[in-house]
Amino acid sequence: MELKVLESNKIDEEVANEIVTLIKGKPNCVLGLATGSTPLGVYANLVKKYENKEVSFKNVRSFNLDEYVGLKHDNDQSYFYFMHHNLFDHIDIDPNNVHVPDGINYENCLKTYDNEIKKAGGIDLQILGIGSNGHIAFNEPGTDFDSFIHLVNLKESTIKDNSRFFSSIEEVPTRAITMGLRSIMQAKRIILIAKGKNKNRAIKALFDEQGIDEALPVSVLKLHPNVEIYCDKDAAEGVIDE
Ligand code: GLP
Repeated sequence: MELKVLESNKIDEEVANEIVTLIKGKPNCVLGLATGSTPLGVYANLVKKYENKEVSFKNVRSFNLDEYVGLKHDNDQSYFYFMHHNLFDHIDIDPNNVHVPDGINYENCLKTYDNEIKKAGGIDLQILGIGSNGHIAFNEPGTDFDSFIHLVNLKESTIKDNSRFFSSIEEVPTRAITMGLRSIMQAKRIILIAKGKNKNRAIKALFDEQGIDEALPVSVLKLHPNVEIYCDKDAAEGVIDE
């Protein structure tokens, strides 16, 4: 795992540049995309680059990591809405090439999502954020490293963390559908971004504690040959890079 510690806006620029470079080399590449506040700056940079005609997403395919169970597409807290509002509506990606796990008709999605990724040729570049408890996508501590797409009961800490986007904690869904850790590990390349003090504990555990342990879902990335971790100073404080 390669660790890069940069200013937050530099992270956004560099990761956006990496994505653009990938698209230029492989216009029909498959992107694995994440939600949350962390990748917002990357998406803003991508929109800018599209507007400046530096890149076209016409043939790009995308698969998102996860979605809340029970939120309809027009709910502004759904990850479907988030992706459209922050990226897809502002670029020339073909709506047929966009995939977000379905939090309403999830039974069908559970059967087909990993296969759809496989049929697309696998994910070329997976973008990840990280939860304060070390979760990636919605794979909470204790998730089987061998998991594919599945339903999950969110941990109280995750519900609390994510409640900042909702008007009250009661409105935060308690269940989600998420790509599994095995699905994520099949990506050819992974970029994880961590920003802010509340990610420091998880990032420290990842670098300073030797173990690869299902109690820290992100630690599965130590088994992947092509991972870059971008942190701002707050997230990386005190980390020993080995
Ligand atoms: C949610 C998402 C994760 C994301 C995490 C961190 O739980 N399912 O994919 O990494 O939030 O969010 P933020 O970037 O807002 O801190």
